[in-house]
Amino acid sequence: MTHVRKAVFPVAGLGTRFLPATKSVPKEMLPLVDRPLIQYAVDEARAAGIEEFIFVTAAGKGALEDYFDTAAALERSLADSGKKEALAALGATRMPEGALTFLRQNQPRGLGHAVRLARRLVGDEPFAVLLPDDVIRGAEPALAQMVAAHARTGGHMVATMEVPLNKTASYGVLDVSSENGRIARARGLVEKPRPEVAPSTRAIIGRYILQPSIFDKLDMLGPGAGGELQLTDAINADVEATGVTGFSFAGERFDCGSIQGFVQATAAFAMDRLELRDEFQAFIAGRSEIHRVAA
Ligand code: UTP
Repeated sequence: MTHVRKAVFPVAGLGTRFLPATKSVPKEMLPLVDRPLIQYAVDEARAAGIEEFIFVTAAGKGALEDYFDTAAALERSLADSGKKEALAALGATRMPEGALTFLRQNQPRGLGHAVRLARRLVGDEPFAVLLPDDVIRGAEPALAQMVAAHARTGGHMVATMEVPLNKTASYGVLDVSSENGRIARARGLVEKPRPEVAPSTRAIIGRYILQPSIFDKLDMLGPGAGGELQLTDAINADVEATGVTGFSFAGERFDCGSIQGFVQATAAFAMDRLELRDEFQAFIAGRSEIHRVAA
């Protein structure tokens, strides 16, 4: 089975839920504590052995390219003034030369369309897709767990998590044919089903390992829900020929594409930091008390 070496990061979306912030700052550059969302996704990919990073960007996303570039003047200035810690903080942004590619999606025509644009760069091998909006916190990075499981299953793999039945309409959901621990074989994926018709409560979240056969399916499909080319439609169209499994990762997922999820993630990552935890916890407890008394 082929090693997963390449990852696609579709980051061309408009990020309308974060306007006005995203008028001039890409959503993926919004920080959880002191690291932008994109850093969490790239770190997760690196930890899974990814060597080539393909970003599908759009107009106004230039800050993402600058972020991973060498900041020679800044580094010199920090070195000259002996700011070793600040200099070390830049370490995570350094990527091997030539490992990153940026390509443009001219119009936001959907996640499937964004992935399709990476065809030439991906070539004929399995590849990962990471949506930086979904931030996963856990002992073992989620994509690394998936890569290990995918070495046994092959086919297409989507990350899944259990959601309450009354939330299925917010997700793509797996139609499960058989389960074995964290791995579920799927008959198909159902986009945003109402609870009454949801085939399961295994919701799909933003990590995928896909076979290159997905590109032919994307080519064949027209626009789906919302007039956009949907990645889940293409996976569905390839269930019989290639097979699809859901992988229920160990970890906690935050939907940082929504304001509520982003704020919760900020709190969770702040609590993880020893130097911030006590004061932050006391602050939140104090605020809770103020609101309780006022209510
Ligand atoms: P979302 O559905 O969250 O859309 O996209 P969005 O534009 O980023 O955010 P809102 O809903 O307007 O607030 C899911 C993922 O797919 C990418 C996004 O960048 C995000 O990572 N995407 C979506 C594209 O790259 N291109 C598209 O045409 C659509």
